[in-house]
Amino acid sequence: MDPVFYPVNDFGPLMKGLVIGGLGIVHVFTAQFAIGGGMLLCYFQWLAMTGRSSTARAFMDGYFKFLVLVSFVAGALTGVGMWFTSIQLSPVTIGLMVDEFHWLWAVEWTFFCLEVTAGYSFYRYGPGLTDRTRLALLVLYTVGAWFSLFWINGILSWQLTPGGWTETGSLWTGFFNPSFFPSLVFRTIAALTVAALVAMVLVNAVGSFDRAQRTELINHASKLLIPMMAMPLLGVWWLAVLPEDSREWVLGGSVAMTMFLQLAVLVSALIGAYAFVGLIRQRLYINGVTAGLLCALAFIATAFGEFVREGVRKPYTVRETLYSNSVKPGDVARLREVGCVTDDPYPVRGADAMPTDQVRLGAKVFRGQCSICHTTGGVNSLPGLTRGWDVGLKRVNFAKVHKLKPFMPPFAGTPDELEALVQYITWLQEGKTASWSDSLAGPDRAPTLAQLKKYLDEAAPAGTRHP
Ligand code: HEC
Repeated sequence: MDPVFYPVNDFGPLMKGLVIGGLGIVHVFTAQFAIGGGMLLCYFQWLAMTGRSSTARAFMDGYFKFLVLVSFVAGALTGVGMWFTSIQLSPVTIGLMVDEFHWLWAVEWTFFCLEVTAGYSFYRYGPGLTDRTRLALLVLYTVGAWFSLFWINGILSWQLTPGGWTETGSLWTGFFNPSFFPSLVFRTIAALTVAALVAMVLVNAVGSFDRAQRTELINHASKLLIPMMAMPLLGVWWLAVLPEDSREWVLGGSVAMTMFLQLAVLVSALIGAYAFVGLIRQRLYINGVTAGLLCALAFIATAFGEFVREGVRKPYTVRETLYSNSVKPGDVARLREVGCVTDDPYPVRGADAMPTDQVRLGAKVFRGQCSICHTTGGVNSLPGLTRGWDVGLKRVNFAKVHKLKPFMPPFAGTPDELEALVQYITWLQEGKTASWSDSLAGPDRAPTLAQLKKYLDEAAPAGTRHP
């Protein structure tokens, strides 16, 4: 087995997966704004150059400053933040991604460099340049931004639908995987939408335009909302290429996932309806507050959407290849023999306050196998979820945890470790009392372990493939 990676960090009551997810949502939103913003500016530059708009030019430089500020500062910070949290929380996953796609990632970074260089040049020299040069810089900026989406999209969609890669291991099969194109087109449209909505906020925020000029700018920006009409089709396409179990999560199998998908669809539909009826058909004026509200809705839709995308991948971080808790499916049977903590030399936090070695072992098992999705006293807290369960109920359910809810990976440890986990959770539930004894120290040891082994074998007999 690969060594357990260090550093193994913990964010207390904030579930680890949620920390990555939360940061990811902000990052995706700003990155999409950066891409769509580039497209909007190319369009506005063209409107200005061809005499189709007399106001576009005046609006552009302000919009661009805002774009640069948001995308370079917030985008770069959250981007680095993503790396920083992923290497702490899921080093095996990020390691696998880097292993598999390092060259593509390097290519992505060259496009990012192009984006930054073109963007900065425009920021610094844009106002004094000729129209043609301005357009050229903006196109370069947009190409850089969009292609960084292109590359990263292949890697992210591969996590969810690795497709033929699981058999062939071929880089390009993994990259151009079944959900590559629906996600790419969907994200491009989302980028245009965000850019248009932000433009509408900014048009209102800039004091120097009169009402007619604002209306004109808003009408131009609303053109970028037209592709939104294709979103439902793309959503259906994406659902169609999902593996069957994932699709079931969002179509009723998991209440949370289903609800989040419905909310994402509902909120997007509201934005789409307003855009279509109000802005495109009736060419209505939109004030700053309404535009801000639509932006907030777009953020919420992004958040729900990303949540669903991350969620439907469970119990994997890379489907069929790596479980969310960094255990490889093919390793489960072996770990049930040798134990999951054997290769984990790192001490657990607060070990001194734990009454027995068994509880310490349980804490380590929890850290290794459950803590990516559960906490001990915060979001999705395991002691909380199993409050009122007696020891017997915990034993059977923890042993068969992937049957209890198929979005959890199978338990991958020995009967001793399973019992330690049960005891650790029970000890937490009983207020971390100092008087605690080892449940396997007495004469019950052999029958208890035999029972646990039986549960484990029933859930998935050692040596077989785990569904
Ligand atoms: C991939 C993420 C993930 C991992 C890893 C994971 N769980 Fe869960 N678990 C969940 C989610 C999500 C829920 C659902 C919570 C809810 O229904 O509100 C859940 C619920 C549970 C429940 C309550 C189920 C019920 O029906 O009430 C138990 C018990 C549980 N998990 C035990 C464990 C144990 C033990 C481990 C480690 C061996 C573990 N889980 C690892 C995601 C995970």
